[in-house]
Amino acid sequence: MKVTFVGAGPGAADLITLRGARALAEASIVLYAGSLVSRDMLTHCRPDAEIHDTAAMSLEEQVAQYRRAQLNGWDVARLHSGDPAIYGAISEQMSALDELNIPYEVVPGVSSFTASAAVLKTSLTRPEVSQTIIITRSEGRASAVPEGESLAALATHGASMAIFLSGAGLTKALEELRTQLPDETPAALVCKASWPQEKHHVATLGTLLDDISPEDWRLSTMLLVGRALENTPGTPSRLYSPEYSHRFRKASKEPLTNA
Ligand SMILES: C[S@@+](CC[C@H](N)C(=O)[O-])C[C@H]1O[C@@H](n2cnc3c(N)ncnc32)[C@H](O)[C@@H]1O
Repeated sequence: MKVTFVGAGPGAADLITLRGARALAEASIVLYAGSLVSRDMLTHCRPDAEIHDTAAMSLEEQVAQYRRAQLNGWDVARLHSGDPAIYGAISEQMSALDELNIPYEVVPGVSSFTASAAVLKTSLTRPEVSQTIIITRSEGRASAVPEGESLAALATHGASMAIFLSGAGLTKALEELRTQLPDETPAALVCKASWPQEKHHVATLGTLLDDISPEDWRLSTMLLVGRALENTPGTPSRLYSPEYSHRFRKASKEPLTNA
């Protein structure tokens, strides 16, 4: 018997990994976060699997299901949206499983921040623009953000930012970012990436809220910010340049000199 924490991906049932789908197909009990994971994902489950939506369950109630599965020798799949390592609240579940001597493993998933970049058909890294992605969140009632990790403090790096859980505090998040970044900085909202209801809005920090109502972007919304979002060619990476040699390819042209 074991528990498998499965990254469900951003929403679409075919954005789960093959390994994740296999874990679902084998589990006798499936616990899933119904507030964020699409019910379509449950098509990967066994027809006779027992399915529990954790949205209305406390940690103790979830642990009781793990304990029940242990007593019966049943495998459990615990579905988390995106990748379980990002705002997945898995560590408290793992501590409880450790106490019960229940083995577990983690199957990673497609995080919603990369799914959001895919919606925008953009790259979050660009040579000489940004080579760093800051994954962060707006402060929420359930989890405080440590000192030094305020949006304003992180914005001083000028790196690309993927800001989770920002829907409810969009106006405040933008105010904080604008204390450090120019109003022309590209900014985008992606809501429910890969769901049938998917929508996105691309603007700048200064204009993001001009034509939309924050109320319509409260849930399952990713805020992406940074100059890398500008879909201009900029300086290309040298990786595919004919002058650039690396372990798997010899340069077909003489390297460029500065002469
Ligand atoms: C509790 S966090 C879970 C994040 C998840 N572990 C991940 O890797 O994507 C929930 C937040 O993730 C983001 N999110 C989740 N699914 C999304 C989607 N399909 N499109 C855009 N943002 C999403 C939103 O910011 C939402 O408030």
